[in-house]
Amino acid sequence: MTETTIHVSGEPGYDVVIGSGVLARLGATLPAAARKVLVVHPPTLAAQAEELRATLMGDREVILAEVPDAEAGKRIEVAAFCWQIMGKSDFTRTDAVVGFGGGAVTDLAGFVAATWLRGVPVVQVPTTVLGMVDASVGGKTGVNTAEGKNLVGAFWAPHAVLADLDLLRTLSRNEAVAGFAEVVKAGFIRYPEILDIVRADPEKAVDPTTAEFRRCIELAIRMKADVVGEDFREAGLREILNYGHTLAHAIEHAERYGWRHGAAVSVGMMYAAELSRLAGRLSDEAVDLHREVLTLLGLPTQYRAGAWPGLLATMQRDKKSRGGMLRFIVLDDIARPTVLQAPDESLLFAAYQEIAEDPRNAIRATGVKLG
Ligand code: GLY
Repeated sequence: MTETTIHVSGEPGYDVVIGSGVLARLGATLPAAARKVLVVHPPTLAAQAEELRATLMGDREVILAEVPDAEAGKRIEVAAFCWQIMGKSDFTRTDAVVGFGGGAVTDLAGFVAATWLRGVPVVQVPTTVLGMVDASVGGKTGVNTAEGKNLVGAFWAPHAVLADLDLLRTLSRNEAVAGFAEVVKAGFIRYPEILDIVRADPEKAVDPTTAEFRRCIELAIRMKADVVGEDFREAGLREILNYGHTLAHAIEHAERYGWRHGAAVSVGMMYAAELSRLAGRLSDEAVDLHREVLTLLGLPTQYRAGAWPGLLATMQRDKKSRGGMLRFIVLDDIARPTVLQAPDESLLFAAYQEIAEDPRNAIRATGVKLG
């Protein structure tokens, strides 16, 4: 199948190349001046990283940095481990980093690249749905600290992103569906065609071998590219990407990060839709569409009935540490996101009642494993 290239504007801009087998372009995509390449990867991709080293070696020296997967890798100690390898290898400003893994690995690799010698090029090669449509595009890089997630980081645009759909073929259905929550978000805030594809055949939509899946991924990446191309540093428009995320972050915290991000975002979007409706902005039909699409995918749309006080407290704390007022992205209609600032607590609570599980029936009827 052919490749699709989506350009992300900026200073400088960069391309996201989507397709089957595009990883083979890595050598040609790396900056010509890079004599050394640090490939940051998780243990689960050790064999593929070795293969990458074998194919890239010859013209340049390739060094592998194996880091813990998921959030365990997004720590300053792990970044320091990478800096140490770079120091020992005399890594110069023209050398390059490759982030090869899920969203946490590309966030870490981007951060290491942003900080070494005040910035070296990074090529991102995401291997999960979430990594492809969100983390690897847009240049937000960082690590977590004891004080919170993503509080330390840098905006550092990649040199290029290679979204090789073949890398997703080994994902479990569960993983693909959880990552798909961010794809569906793109449907709600910009490209409703994604919602039509899910409604027509949810199984095909989440199957990485189908044309439907590819179309959804391309639209989600296009949405992200459009938004970050216009607002790299989140001065305005980029905030719409937080649709569903204000509550989702509080749920992730309540679950001690045991839930998949996509599962929390799914509940968060259902909440944001109900909030939009109660704020007099969104129609009943559009809210029903949220419930229909998320349920068709087996994503959760409810959360524990008694959890509200704790969730609200977390959202308030989060807002304070980021120095702002409580803000939610809401919809005036499908594909018409806007900001709701400092909404009344009674409105927030009323919206929560709409997604609270009936305690007499507390088994979550979802097809997706939450953790
Ligand atoms: N994941 C949200 C953003 O990139 O701004």
